[in-house]
Amino acid sequence: MTVTHLATASDTLIEWSDTLSVGIQEIDDQHRFLVDLLNKLHRAIHQRQGTAATETILMELVDYTKIHFAVEESLMRILGYPAYDEHKQQHDHLIDEIHELQDKLASGKASVTFELLHFLRTWLTKHIMEEDQHYSPFFLSRGAVATGANQSVAGRLWKSLFG
Ligand SMILES: [Fe+2]
Ligand SMILES: [Fe+2]
Repeated sequence: MTVTHLATASDTLIEWSDTLSVGIQEIDDQHRFLVDLLNKLHRAIHQRQGTAATETILMELVDYTKIHFAVEESLMRILGYPAYDEHKQQHDHLIDEIHELQDKLASGKASVTFELLHFLRTWLTKHIMEEDQHYSPFFLSRGAVATGANQSVAGRLWKSLFG
């Protein structure tokens, strides 16, 4: 795989802000982690950390994205979210695109570029703001822990021990 280096104004691709919050603590934490990974990938390319480092972060990002989608989809099925099918289609579509891209990268037909990063950034922010934020009122009405709300007893205990 080739890594293309292009000049960019900043090391940070996405700044987390409240506009990205879905209002559910656990999901916000996962989205923040995805944002961090995308920024890490951006830095690796920007700072020319090399192909191996870039590939490793990209794989981490792809793996974590799949885990995150699986968590959201499980919650939707457990809670009976009415728009589950449409939401899952969006997830499947991105995973298909990523697999195609990984094939191209593996066969040397594409490179990890800032264009790819911008595609991932646009997709992630758009999906969070247009699709994920739609399920939050439904999840919250069924007992999801709101961002910033008091945590469960187990959560508070964990924080007091390790936080
Ligand atoms: Fe999400
Ligand atoms: Fe989603």
